[in-house]
Amino acid sequence: MPAPDAWLDAVRRHVDAQLDEFFAASRVEMLGLAPEAMPIVEAVEALTLRGGKRLRPAVLVAAFSSVSASGDWRSTADACAALELLQTYLLIHDDWMDGDEQRRGGPSVHAALRDRVGDAHLGASLAVLAGDLASAFSQRLMVRASTAAKSPVQALEAFVRMQTEVVCGQSLDLLATTDVPRMQQLKTGSYTVAGPLRLGALLAGATPEQLGVLEAFGGPMGEAFQLRDDLLGTFGDPRTTGKPSGNDLRAGKRTALVLEAEQRLDADARAPLTRVLGLKEATDTQVAEAAALLVESGAKAGVERRLDMLVQQAVGALDTPLLHETGRAMLQTLVEALAVRDR
Ligand code: IPE
Ligand code: IPE
Ligand code: MG
Ligand code: MG
Repeated sequence: MPAPDAWLDAVRRHVDAQLDEFFAASRVEMLGLAPEAMPIVEAVEALTLRGGKRLRPAVLVAAFSSVSASGDWRSTADACAALELLQTYLLIHDDWMDGDEQRRGGPSVHAALRDRVGDAHLGASLAVLAGDLASAFSQRLMVRASTAAKSPVQALEAFVRMQTEVVCGQSLDLLATTDVPRMQQLKTGSYTVAGPLRLGALLAGATPEQLGVLEAFGGPMGEAFQLRDDLLGTFGDPRTTGKPSGNDLRAGKRTALVLEAEQRLDADARAPLTRVLGLKEATDTQVAEAAALLVESGAKAGVERRLDMLVQQAVGALDTPLLHETGRAMLQTLVEALAVRDR
């Protein structure tokens, strides 16, 4: 019997093949339009094809399969590829905003382009355009996907909605809001869980009741995913995550961990953490001291408890006959891929 998550590999392979094909055609198009702009296309292609867990396509496929009893999930390939190109666009801009030099085990796009042209501002400007191009590619794929959708206008609206939410969430992140759950829901849950679930369901023609169940699952799962990312951002191994650890602290991000520590410690006790927050030049030792304080204060354990609670809430929402069994089982396996703590 195949392992319960064997379908995840199948989705990854299918999406990767679709992306390969899309880039082959796009390179030809871009060469005809402006051969000078090829470094931008190559940067978009390199980041998109260089790994990535392909979680958003998996979420979309699970939602599609929980609504459609007979439809083949492979028919959603364009929508899946659109989600990955949306991710490419968001990651390119995010890494520049966060000042991160590494992504998916290689240089972030602004770093790669800066090194290619030998100028930081020009490199960053080209990276903005690379993000814009990835966004344009994702819109093209989504328009194509909508032609096969059972509810095309609603599906396109869901795609626009998740992008609008990410912009709001990223703004709240940059403006250091204290409403961290709302920020996380908007900046990450939106396009990682809630949006892909809604999109997959609308491609399959979901009823309002089915959409309601998926929303009840997606809300807590989206927050749980971001909490896991916050934990990995400080305690993860860069060899596994492909991103530097400690940079959330150096960037002064108000993550769930920081907020939890603030609630537990007075200003004096927080000093090792406060010193590092937003200090780009913080040494590895200073970052390690701040991370140790997050453990000793119980902040890490507090975030882990909330994550576990959210996962339970999400799993509880799946206990309904409104979803088809195949898709429901897929959603169950996704819980682990999205939010199990030590991966
Ligand atoms: C990273 O998303 C950005 C966040 C929303 C936290 P993923 O962890 O899904 O990154 P990839 O696509 O697998 O690289
Ligand atoms: C990324 O958020 C969310 C996006 C909208 C791309 P973060 O900045 O928290 O994620 P990482 O840690 O860089 O992947
Ligand atoms: Mg970032
Ligand atoms: Mg960010």
